[in-house]
Amino acid sequence: MTFTIIVNFKHYRQSSGPDCDRMLKNLVSCKKKSGVDVYYAVGPSDLRSSVSIAPGRIIAQSVDTLSMGAYTGSLSVEFLKISGVAGSLLNHSEKRVSASTVKDLQEGTSGQKFQLYICAENLEEVRAFASMKPGFVAYEPPELIGGDISVSKAKPEIISEASAICRENHVELLVGAGVKTAGDVVRSKELGASGILIASGVVLSSDPANALNSLIEAV
Ligand code: G3P
Repeated sequence: MTFTIIVNFKHYRQSSGPDCDRMLKNLVSCKKKSGVDVYYAVGPSDLRSSVSIAPGRIIAQSVDTLSMGAYTGSLSVEFLKISGVAGSLLNHSEKRVSASTVKDLQEGTSGQKFQLYICAENLEEVRAFASMKPGFVAYEPPELIGGDISVSKAKPEIISEASAICRENHVELLVGAGVKTAGDVVRSKELGASGILIASGVVLSSDPANALNSLIEAV
């Protein structure tokens, strides 16, 4: 089974604008390993340049609506698809949307070549979103995001339960928040996750490529 690593560039100075290009060029030089898929979630204004650096590997950090039209300030699935963006995070703790928006976007992208990664803050949301049958649900406890205690250390029993819920629904489970080390990857995998999301552990590292390489090697 393929293990997915999503590096979320967030809106950090180190990974936005010209520094987004630099960061991405550095990270795509990381070793490739069969059975490991790495995607990069970049900010909206960096999507087009990022697609030319890492085709097929770029996802958006959020998406607003399905179609293009009279939607001021929006980022639509339609636009992302024609721009070569492979998918999007949705409902990240730092960019929450309503349950009905999640439902509409999931139904509207179902069967399309556009992957949604629906973020859930707790088991209740994991259950609700998994029942919509997206490709992926991503469990991230908000209080651990950006910290040094990883989700796999702090919430092992919730990951196991989330993994069981996702398995029943034929949905893949990603986990994130506080992930920093190869050990976090190994533990997440043992608990039933089929991938991780990581931001500060790579993007704010003094050696981002080395940080990502050690995660890839651990899979
Ligand atoms: O989307 C991933 C992110 O929220 C996790 O952040 O800094 O804890 O790896 P971080």
